[in-house]
Amino acid sequence: MKVTIVGAGAVGASCAEYIAIKDFASEVVLIDIKEGYAEGKAMDLMQTASLNGFDTKISGSTNDYSKTANSDVAVITSGIPRKPGMTREELIGINAGIVKTVTQSILEHSPNAIFIVVSNPMDTMAYLTHKALGLPKNRIIGMGGALDSARFKYRLAEALECPSSDVNGIVIGGHSDTGMIPLSRLAVRNSIPVNKFLSEERITEVVEATKVGGATLTKLLGTSAWYAPGAAVSSMVQSIACDQKKMFPCSALLEGEYGLNDLSIGVPCIIGKNGIEQIVELDLNDAEKNKLQESATAVKKTNGLLDV
Ligand code: 2OP
Repeated sequence: MKVTIVGAGAVGASCAEYIAIKDFASEVVLIDIKEGYAEGKAMDLMQTASLNGFDTKISGSTNDYSKTANSDVAVITSGIPRKPGMTREELIGINAGIVKTVTQSILEHSPNAIFIVVSNPMDTMAYLTHKALGLPKNRIIGMGGALDSARFKYRLAEALECPSSDVNGIVIGGHSDTGMIPLSRLAVRNSIPVNKFLSEERITEVVEATKVGGATLTKLLGTSAWYAPGAAVSSMVQSIACDQKKMFPCSALLEGEYGLNDLSIGVPCIIGKNGIEQIVELDLNDAEKNKLQESATAVKKTNGLLDV
């Protein structure tokens, strides 16, 4: 399994590190436009191999896509991250051009690759990748829901005063501060609905903190987060590499599922060796359906700014 990560910034490097530590890929190639940067990150990571006990070979390249040839998975993190006070949508102008160019370069050298799009505004960048590459829809996956769900579980565990491993919950909808839909009705602590333990008011606080999870970190860090995004991507790559068929909410191109068409938005997906192997259609209640519709309308509005 060869994985290329485009963009050797914090998210890309953290993703490479988690993939290496989990030791399921034979090769990871980091590629970046900044001279020597990907090579440096790769070398630094390789010097942890004996300490962390992995055999994955990590290499770096300054913009030489021939080094990415025959990748099975390509993770797209390139573009600029948001700064405090910015929304993900505000990045579209710069990131759209970058994502289009890099995904085309990857496909040229790796005709069978499965793409995981991380660059923001992520749902729109995933949609752009579909439009630019024209690949079967299972091969382009947007990473947002896996991260947002991890943040939801963190906030749930905090409220429940229990370990995160005790809770489960998913977030669907757009990967944006207003578009995310943490499905609190389905959130559980060891199979027991969380409303058994938490007041409605506390659950609302958890939901709201989840939705601004990325913005909260951007304010604290001065740039967007990397550990949880990197870990979320690495889990998705592992599910592809090891054909685990795990379910993650991912930004998938919808063609009638959930009554929606012609956009990529977060819905539960089974991820295996073929990428998105199934879109799982949940029985949403009316309030949840309305929120998904509103979120879809907002994603489509951002898609409308694309030149595709
Ligand atoms: C986030 O931290 C990277 O969009 C990403 O939410």
